[in-house]
Amino acid sequence: MTSSIHLSLVVILVLLCPVFSESIDPSVQDLISRNADFAARLYRTVASQTDDNIFLSPFMVSAGLMALLNMTSGETRDQLQQGLTLTGLEPQDLPDLFQTLRTVVLQGDGTKNLQQSMNVFPASNFEVPPSYRDLVQTKFGGNIQTLAYTAPQDAVSTINHLVQEQTRDKVQDLVNNVNAQTQLLLVIAASYQTLFSPSFNLSLSQDERFYVDRYHVVMVPMMFRADKYFLAYDRLLKAGVLKLPMAGGMAMLVVLPDEGVDVTAVEEEVTAEKIQAWIRQLKKTKLEVQLPRFLLERQYSLKDVLQKLGVTQVFQDDAEILNLGGANAPKLNQVFHKSVVSVNEHSDDLNTVGGVMFSALPPRLTINRPFLFIIYQQNSGSLLFLGRVADPTKK
Ligand SMILES: *[C@@H]1O[C@H](CO)[C@@H](O)[C@H](O)[C@H]1NC(C)=O
Ligand SMILES: *[C@@H]1O[C@H](CO)[C@@H](O)[C@H](O)[C@H]1NC(C)=O
Repeated sequence: MTSSIHLSLVVILVLLCPVFSESIDPSVQDLISRNADFAARLYRTVASQTDDNIFLSPFMVSAGLMALLNMTSGETRDQLQQGLTLTGLEPQDLPDLFQTLRTVVLQGDGTKNLQQSMNVFPASNFEVPPSYRDLVQTKFGGNIQTLAYTAPQDAVSTINHLVQEQTRDKVQDLVNNVNAQTQLLLVIAASYQTLFSPSFNLSLSQDERFYVDRYHVVMVPMMFRADKYFLAYDRLLKAGVLKLPMAGGMAMLVVLPDEGVDVTAVEEEVTAEKIQAWIRQLKKTKLEVQLPRFLLERQYSLKDVLQKLGVTQVFQDDAEILNLGGANAPKLNQVFHKSVVSVNEHSDDLNTVGGVMFSALPPRLTINRPFLFIIYQQNSGSLLFLGRVADPTKK
């Protein structure tokens, strides 16, 4: 009796224990969970509107909206706070909190293959207080500068040049056209090159079938590796979850619905808690993995999506963006977002060669139908990117 009570207590304690490192400040860990919740809601909303490939950088979208939140008040601020799942936190604490989060997530060499940029562009008739310029830069790692939208083509090329420079040429042509009446834009870009560790062996890659849907098959270069991997299975959703470790403490979760299960059915259930539960359930197993090589380049105008998430006032004429321009404050016109990811055999992994030779053939997991993927930092559980591959031969 006593021992069974004892045992269940241990089980409860283990279940309550956070999956991620305890060395992270609880308030930062709290912000990470809140950001993860926003990330999942943002993803689900985008996913519900398209059958195409998806690639989003919710981390940078959070950064941009949080920087904007700092200059708002009233209903505009309340909505932003609620939309970002930041209700209950003191708005004035957010900049410092996010700065700490950035140092936790973007530390070490996990970032050498990551380029990110966040820009706030008010029209040139608004004034940017130097303190706000400083805040966007130091706390949120972004940039604020005014633009003369009255010359729309010049504004477009200024934006695109700046983003290209900030992302070391990885993200190009982010904006196509802007309106001469534009008052304020938020422009967010990110690019990521996977560096799997252990890596896939290029000489073992070969073209294989990928089943886009029941009527549509494409040939795609499939990477291969036999090794010990962490794998989980979600019985409720009928989906396998595979963890692929990457350089710098990052990892990719690949979520593969069973044959005959629609990827959208799984997506509707993706929440921050679900992702954490998957990570908790991962178990080491011998496996042959086949993953398509792909390159995604996706761009979004997020205004509609954010409005679906309850963030509406900031886009209205009476938006309370009071720290810019005083009496005739601007409204936010659009949030432009573009993210790029290359998933391939590239690696800076010098130690692991070949993979493991197993005496008995291990099961093979072939990612040859639409799947989701999540790129996160293992130590903190911070979600950086969420995506869907519907067709790996398309950008
Ligand atoms: C903006 O951030 C600064 C620095 O953290 C803070 O003092 C100020 O209260 C914030 N303003 C709002 C409206 O959140
Ligand atoms: C890749 O696979 C080939 C063929 O099995 C093998 O000869 C080679 O050593 C492997 N290369 C690496 C870097 O593991």
